[in-house]
Amino acid sequence: MTAYLIRNVSPVGGEPTDLLIRDGVVAEVGAGLTADGATVVDATGLVALPGLVDLHTHLREPGREDAETVESGSRAAALGGYTAVCAMANTSPVADTAGVVEQVWRLGREAGLVDVQPIGAVTVGLAGERLAELGAMADSAARVRIFSDDGHCVADPRLMRRALEYVKAFDGVIAQHAEEPRLTEGAQMHEGEVSTRLGLTGWPAVAEEAIIARDVLLAEHVGSRLHVCHVSTAGSVEVLRQAKARGVRVTAEVTPHHLLLTDQRAESYDPVFKVNPPLRTAADIAALRAALAEGVIDVIATDHAPHAVEDKECEWAYARPGMLGLETALSVALDVLGPRWDLIAERMSRVPARIAGLTGHGLDPAPGVPANLTVVDPAARRVIEPAELASRSRNTPYARMTLPGRIVATFLRGEPTVLDGKAVK
Ligand code: DOR
Ligand code: ZN
Repeated sequence: MTAYLIRNVSPVGGEPTDLLIRDGVVAEVGAGLTADGATVVDATGLVALPGLVDLHTHLREPGREDAETVESGSRAAALGGYTAVCAMANTSPVADTAGVVEQVWRLGREAGLVDVQPIGAVTVGLAGERLAELGAMADSAARVRIFSDDGHCVADPRLMRRALEYVKAFDGVIAQHAEEPRLTEGAQMHEGEVSTRLGLTGWPAVAEEAIIARDVLLAEHVGSRLHVCHVSTAGSVEVLRQAKARGVRVTAEVTPHHLLLTDQRAESYDPVFKVNPPLRTAADIAALRAALAEGVIDVIATDHAPHAVEDKECEWAYARPGMLGLETALSVALDVLGPRWDLIAERMSRVPARIAGLTGHGLDPAPGVPANLTVVDPAARRVIEPAELASRSRNTPYARMTLPGRIVATFLRGEPTVLDGKAVK
């Protein structure tokens, strides 16, 4: 195993220092280190973050390998500075059994580019009718702890209650896609001034807020853990703020796109901007950014949702919702938050690692800690070119936008997955 000496890198909140990475761990931290045989990486002007952790990634395998595979998505993740991703269950077949979650977990290990932690479905086939085998998935080699029907809401309150009760036994968490389905039938975009003007059926903010309000009450009643996926409205922030103030065990995520893009993008009728939940208003964005800084929202998660060309480059009404996120998330976070590295590390690495129970991740470099790290050039600016992305899909909403920051290197347990901004394998 090669040793790496990262010279003159700034850890979060610290002065520039050297990091020696050997045998999978951070062996030494300090100025002026030397190590025979180590590969030297000059990191002057660069920042070392704990490897990013994504709570919400769609890898599409099994079933839609034309859109993404565990390997291509893992490569996209590594290039985005991630060392661990949680793979959503809405694959085909659905990840609702020990067999499927073990398959995804094994494919992740074989790719070896990030730790792939499968999420299990809450209900069989995501149909919202019967609980899936949560215990068997938890006991499997994949050790599932997060369960989600993402893409669909667990709309039945009794099923949601049972799921919350069930996972309590092993400190699991139910990650809810909060969307009251009766309020979003036929919805194409955010319900508001723009949808009225464009004549597209609206997805009202209250459809999200009503489910979050219900679910924090259920989680409180049961004493179990709830995680809210892709929070998108100012009203949801207020529901979460109140629940947290009461001590409800609830955490929440926001996506990069909901922090940056508004519903006005729909005016282009370009389906690359179609996503679920939809892009909202500038006022929602302001509330989401404030909530993220405050901690009412715990995490930035990508909701990386690759789609094949034929599912995206068609009429708006027929296009699938979702956008790529892994390779641009850190740049969007830097754009939105500025160089607040401690906040970025907290929201994109430390806290998501804790929520997912990924013990070797989310740790700042210190002697003995697993070397899961990403090295960022904060001064770089880059133009996003869809053709250059490692994802198998091309549906990035940031095409030809200039964004700050560049991932220079990513290390997974001491082995580089990215060096000099390029994937190692
Ligand atoms: O935009 C979305 N795409 N939202 C979801 O909830 C699911 C996801 C997907 O799987 O494409
Ligand atoms: Zn979702």
